[in-house]
Amino acid sequence: MPDLRTEFLDLPLANPLMNASGVWCSVASQLEALAECAAGAMVTKSCTLAQRDGNPEPRYRATPWGSINSMGLPNEGFPYYLNYARCHDYERKPLFMSLAGLTLDDNLTMVAELREAVTPVIMELNLSCPNVPGKAQVGYDFEAMDTFIHEIADAYDRPFGVKLPPYFDIAHFDEAAAILNAYPQIAFVTCINSIGNGLVIDPVSETVVIRPKDGFGGIGGDFVLPTALANVNAFFRRCPDKKIIGCGGVRSGEQVFLHLLAGAALVQVGTQLFEEGPLIFPRLLEELQAIMTAKGYDRITDFQGKLKTL
Ligand code: FUM
Repeated sequence: MPDLRTEFLDLPLANPLMNASGVWCSVASQLEALAECAAGAMVTKSCTLAQRDGNPEPRYRATPWGSINSMGLPNEGFPYYLNYARCHDYERKPLFMSLAGLTLDDNLTMVAELREAVTPVIMELNLSCPNVPGKAQVGYDFEAMDTFIHEIADAYDRPFGVKLPPYFDIAHFDEAAAILNAYPQIAFVTCINSIGNGLVIDPVSETVVIRPKDGFGGIGGDFVLPTALANVNAFFRRCPDKKIIGCGGVRSGEQVFLHLLAGAALVQVGTQLFEEGPLIFPRLLEELQAIMTAKGYDRITDFQGKLKTL
């Protein structure tokens, strides 16, 4: 049986799978289910300083090719997740905590508390939520992104990661990577958040399918796989000292395999976890092992990051 064990920031993991922030991770009961399931690691819902109800419903819809959502950062607030992080059993699996403050000051406040907290939780700074009305994604404003990272890196004395929006232009891969590479404290980069502000239309009712923002929302699932793989591979090539976490378009072991081949160290599952629940993880692991067996790979390092070009 191929060995799926791996390491991330010197921590041993049973396998490279985890949830994507936002899915099955908003409240303690969901987080407990993740802690108990087969995933090798887990991340909390992106949190703001204070609790938020998020955008009006309906705000998520699955389609045959993926999903659209405009949740608007509904979350229990930073203290809730910090409390969870304090109680988490880190022997079982690493826990990431996703921060998505509405302002730089909010992020700095949360980071200052996290810095003082005696917990090995790993911070992921979300620079890419597309769904808060009136708030642009920091990851699409390189000057703002640099300022954000600079201030956070100054305030936080541990390695951390950033969650990026998808980029679509080689010049933008170059520019974003140059910013990230200026900060050795950034230990990992999560690619990608949803493709922001897509529009799904129901041809029968002639309406949009979610209520917020006139139907505009983040796109995930099958729709986004090639974009996710491109971003994983682009940052894998450009940021050799950082780990890449792949996210986007995973619904079977084959897509996990592709993310790893493109350079991901860990692979997150979003839309399909929403649809199937945490029992998706043993299925994905079994399917990944079947692919590895068929290809004669004994361990993940046999193929991780070894994508061939023509
Ligand atoms: O709307 C949301 O809560 C989504 C957050 C994200 O995509 O980061």
